[in-house]
Amino acid sequence: MSEVSRFDVIVIGAGAAGLMCALSAGGRGRRVLVIDHAEKAGKKILISGGGRCNFTNLHTAPDRFISANRHFCISALKRHTQHDFVALVRRHGIAFHEKKLGQLFCDDSARDIVGMLLKECDEAGVVIQLDTGVTRIERDEAFHIGTTRGAFESESLVVATGGLSIPKMGATGFGYRVAAQFGVKVLPTRAGLVPFTFADADPRNFKDLAGVACEARVRCGGASFDEAILFTHRGLSGPAILQVSSFWNDGDGVEIDMLPGTDALARLRELVAERPKAEVKTVLADLLPRRLAQRVTPPALEGRPAGSVAERDWRALADDLQRWRITPAGTEGYRTAEVTLGGVDTSELSSKTMEARKVPGLFFIGEVVDVTGWLGGYNFQWAWSSGFCAGQFA
Ligand code: FDA
Repeated sequence: MSEVSRFDVIVIGAGAAGLMCALSAGGRGRRVLVIDHAEKAGKKILISGGGRCNFTNLHTAPDRFISANRHFCISALKRHTQHDFVALVRRHGIAFHEKKLGQLFCDDSARDIVGMLLKECDEAGVVIQLDTGVTRIERDEAFHIGTTRGAFESESLVVATGGLSIPKMGATGFGYRVAAQFGVKVLPTRAGLVPFTFADADPRNFKDLAGVACEARVRCGGASFDEAILFTHRGLSGPAILQVSSFWNDGDGVEIDMLPGTDALARLRELVAERPKAEVKTVLADLLPRRLAQRVTPPALEGRPAGSVAERDWRALADDLQRWRITPAGTEGYRTAEVTLGGVDTSELSSKTMEARKVPGLFFIGEVVDVTGWLGGYNFQWAWSSGFCAGQFA
């Protein structure tokens, strides 16, 4: 009979949440094994934030998270705050900066964050076994884990396998299947922080504007974000669009104000008074990127001197600029989404420990849980906070 290795805690998933949980449990003297099917730990951390990892946000607060239960994240975010994580980063001498809106990035590379987590795990005696697939999970008085590299047993099992975003990087629905196996409810999932697409036949297809960006206020599903939007070959992206995509459901409209904080009509009147002979598109180019100005100029006003345009046409144009309504055909889906909305139902978990109420010893942390942060470092903070908490109890 082949030998079974015993640990106190087995964590499946060597991503942000799994590594944090492992070092937190290892720090308590627990013998911890981390298993991952990838050949490298923390792959998503490495590609995050354009390779510089937006590892937390100074403004982290429960209202920056989307979940069927808005209150679930409060306890974990309090137990391990953004300041606790920043203190860890500082202890490791990693240089960082605030880019904007409280978003903290490494000065140098996301590799520093992975290196820090691995060093902490190493010091806590955590064993990390990569390139290892889980073939079976059974439970009696302990968890029995069959893998492609041997059999293991543990008192606690932590599922930290993330969501469905970016399948090319090894994302799987594994965590949801484990939940189902143990009768833990999973809420429907969908892609979040993801660009919108337009149908090819849509007359509002903006392929010709690909690459144009401007500041905007974007509203959808009761949420509103002031940041840049970016036209792409397939539709719309940019931070403001990614943010509202998490509040968007199929068929919903999205409203875009391309001149946020401006009274567009008053501003247009001023510009016309200054240059009545200029063409309408030239006047608009004072307010918007040139290609966009050209595109939003109504065909009936093309080539006309601004001074000859009737007040009602300016009103209509100002309204279009500040209340542009679009209905995306869809999103780019999990292929490019930064996160997965939905997942393990929080009503099944203790908000203090992340342990499944029905299954003592079984924990779910990070993105696999139905807690999704806004863009800007919030998702990693959820991974750190939920991972830390589970590590204190697993
Ligand atoms: P994560 O996905 O990190 O880890 C899951 C681990 O489980 C992986 O190592 C995977 O290989 C493993 N696994 C999966 N299935 C398995 C199986 N069947 N068997 C064994 N192992 C398995 N957030 C943020 O706050 N700031 C940022 O800058 C960014 N940037 C960013 C860029 C891009 C391109 C993406 C896709 C995402 C981001 N995010 C982000 C989101 C962030 O990456 C995400 O929320 C966290 O990585 C979630 O951490 P988890 O540990 O839960 O999952």
